[in-house]
Order: sequence, then structure tokens, then C-alpha cells
Amino acid sequence: MQYKSYPLDAEAEKKFGPQKVILTEKDFAGSLKSVLPGDLIVATNSKGQFRALGMANRDSQFFFRVLTKDISDCELDILDLLQKKILIAWKKRLAHGFKNSFRLVFAEGDSLPGLIMDHYVLVDGRVFISIQLNIYGMDRLLKDRSLFFKSLVEKAFQENLTQVPADQFIFLIRKDSPRRIREGLNIEPTVQLGKVLNSTENTVQQILISGSDNFVDRFTCDLIQGQKTGFFLDQAANVDLVQGHFLRSLQEKEKTKVRILDLFCHLGQWSIRVGGFLERHQISCNSVMMDASADALNLAQQNLDLANLKGQGFNRDLLKNFPAKEPAGSEWGAELFDLVICDPPAFVKSKKDLAAGSRAYLKLNTQAMRWVTPSGFFATASCSGNLNESDFLTLVKRASGQAGRKINLVAKGGQPKDHPLVSGFTQGQYLKFLLFQIE
Ligand SMILES: C[S@@+](CC[C@H](N)C(=O)[O-])C[C@H]1O[C@@H](n2cnc3c(N)ncnc32)[C@H](O)[C@@H]1O
Repeated sequence: MQYKSYPLDAEAEKKFGPQKVILTEKDFAGSLKSVLPGDLIVATNSKGQFRALGMANRDSQFFFRVLTKDISDCELDILDLLQKKILIAWKKRLAHGFKNSFRLVFAEGDSLPGLIMDHYVLVDGRVFISIQLNIYGMDRLLKDRSLFFKSLVEKAFQENLTQVPADQFIFLIRKDSPRRIREGLNIEPTVQLGKVLNSTENTVQQILISGSDNFVDRFTCDLIQGQKTGFFLDQAANVDLVQGHFLRSLQEKEKTKVRILDLFCHLGQWSIRVGGFLERHQISCNSVMMDASADALNLAQQNLDLANLKGQGFNRDLLKNFPAKEPAGSEWGAELFDLVICDPPAFVKSKKDLAAGSRAYLKLNTQAMRWVTPSGFFATASCSGNLNESDFLTLVKRASGQAGRKINLVAKGGQPKDHPLVSGFTQGQYLKFLLFQIE
């Protein structure tokens, strides 16, 4: 075998079940001093038998990340193995019905540690694949691989996974995730394969986002400078969930006009997708969008106009500047809202932030739900991987007590199927989503 082997210690060997995808240095029996950041190594049992091939890094909180537990994969060239796994992930997305823009690869969720790939279809038919290499091993293997990505999409085309020919694909390597620093990697400018991009490039593109009703929304978004890889693809299924429940409730009440408050709106995904959906069902909609990022808000306003919807964006720091109680100030309007969406950034970025982050969620949710009209809906999310769903639910219930509002849980959302979960990697389970109706 082409890889160096290291035996597990007896305890780790016993616990090394099918779900286990992460090992620490302590899980290995011998010295690991010769392992360099990003090395591919094999973990064996005490008899030297193969248990897993993985990527190692002694500078990371996770020393060994499993790439495969199938010994026959070790006979493949490593780049062929990565291509094989990416194509499997691609097939799964199509089997789940994903169209247009979606997350193609979700790191450990697809047994491709540290690799994120987002598939964005543009209005002109081209496809941008935005790639994040967040661990040493992936960075070392894929950072300069134009041919790898080109032949990947050629294979995808041959296998009918895409109708778009390879020359219509653009590959961006984004090296700006803070996760890279935790792995000992540098933050670097985004690269369009073969070309380093600078901040003056015109990076704004229009992407297509499909809903479960098959309607395709257009969003102007910055795929190079924008947050994450440009768009929060992870909320798509939660938007679908809210659309259905909200519409049914409005139709029961025979309501034909609604107001939406979209807190932490980013590019206006919620306002535009829910607002557009309601308009298609003859319900007129007006949105108030708020975000601390002036760039995001600018695009959100453009997106609202592009969708021909009514509303306005306000550049607000909602953690510092959130009116504590009714009645509303000018931009909030005189009336309450039929739907309030509260989708903040992660407040619990590490375990040590749990107490302070939980207080921040409590305060924010208390304030936000005060803006919901009686019998209106409150949609609230947390993208903190270190806060579990039951604790988040408890916090929102406490917030309802503090806000003096009675809430009924209507539906639970969460992570969509293009962000698959692995029970052995709880760090990948980050998105919680709850929908309430307020009495
Ligand atoms: C999880 S994203 C929201 C995603 C968005 N709702 C969507 O579905 O596309 C969090 C957003 O919060 C914004 N943000 C971060 N800190 C903020 C603050 N203190 N006040 C207001 N917005 C903030 C970011 O600019 C980002 O757009």
C-alpha cells in the first residue's frame, strides 16, 4: 500500500464503529512525530489490519479525518478517489431533486473532509463551482488543480449529471474561511483557477435558486467577496417549509395583504422567496429587511426590485440597535408583522461562548417575537453548531415568556439534504430552524 500506517490504541480500536469519522492523536498507539500537516495516512488495528485512510494534521483539533474505510480505495490514485467521491455526492443531490444552485459537497457529510463545493447556475447558463479547501490535506491536494476540476465536470457531463458542457464551468477557490486558520492555513485571495482575483474585479453575478414549487428565483450575488460562498444555500428547504404553512394560514383567514420583517436578511432570500410565492397566490406582500452589511443590503434591495416586490432594506446592527418594545419607530412601521424571520449569525462559535451566546439568542428572540402580529408566524434559526436543537427550543420558549407572547410550535426545519449529517461528526450539524405561530 502506498500510505504509511499507524496503529490505533486498544480503546480507540473498540470504539471505531461505522459512524466514527474523526480521531485524535490520543487514539493512536505509537509516535506520530513523523506525520506532516496534510499527510494521507492509514489507521490500522493492533494487528496491522486496515481500518481507514484519512487526512492527518497534528496542528488541528481533529488529528485524523476519515476519507474512506474501504481498503480497495487505497489502490486508486488519490485524485481519482476524490473525483469518484465527488461524483457520488453529485448523484445524491440529483436523486434528492436538487436543481440549479445547491451544495454539491459538504465535507465530512460526504466523506470528503474539509472540502466544500457549491454549484451555482447563472442566468446565462454558465455554472460557477465555488470551492473551499478548509483543511490542510485538501488544500495540499486540490489548490492548483485546474485539470482535476475540468475532468471532473467532463465526467459529470458524460454521466448525465449536468447538461452544461465543461467549457461553461468556472471554478473559484475561496480561501477566506476562518476555519482555515484553525487548521494552520492562511487566508488568501480567491482564485479563479489559473487567475488570482482582486477586489476590483466585477464579481457580481445573477444565480438561480429553485423552490419546491419549481419556481426559479434570481438573486444578484457576489460569489467572490460575498459571505460564505456568496449565498446561504442552507435555508432553501426552510423557506419552502414556511411558504406552505404561512400560505395555508393566510388563506384560512382570507388575508390578501401581509407584512414581513426579515431580520439578518443578507441578500433578501426570505423576503424574495416567501414574498414572491405569496404574490403568485394573489397575496400582496411588503417586506422590511435589515442587515448590518451594507453590501449585502444593497444586493438585497436590488433583488427585491428584480423580483418586482415591495419593500425596503435598512442597514442596522441588530445586536446594538434593536428597539426593545413597541410601538414601532419609523422604519419598522406602525403595525406589527404577519411573519418575522430571525436568522442571525452564529453566536456560539465555540463551547466557551455557550453562556454568552445563549443569552444573545434569548435577548434577540425576545425582541424579535414582539414584532409578530397576533396569529402571525415567527421563524427563528440558529447556525451555531455548539448549541443543540433542544436547548435552542428551550431558549425560544423562555424568550416567549419574557416577551409575554404565547407561542405554538408549527414545524421544525433544519439542515437540508445537500448538507448531509453524520452522527459521528456533530460539528457538521449546525443549523436549527423553528417555526411558531403566535397567539
Ligand atoms: C445567517 S446570515 C443570514 C442569511 C439570510 N437570512 C439568508 O437566508 O440568506 C446572517 C446575516 O447577519 C448579518 N449580520 C451579522 N451581524 C449582524 C448584526 N450585528 N446586525 C445585523 N445583521 C448582522 C450578516 O451580514 C448576514 O447577512
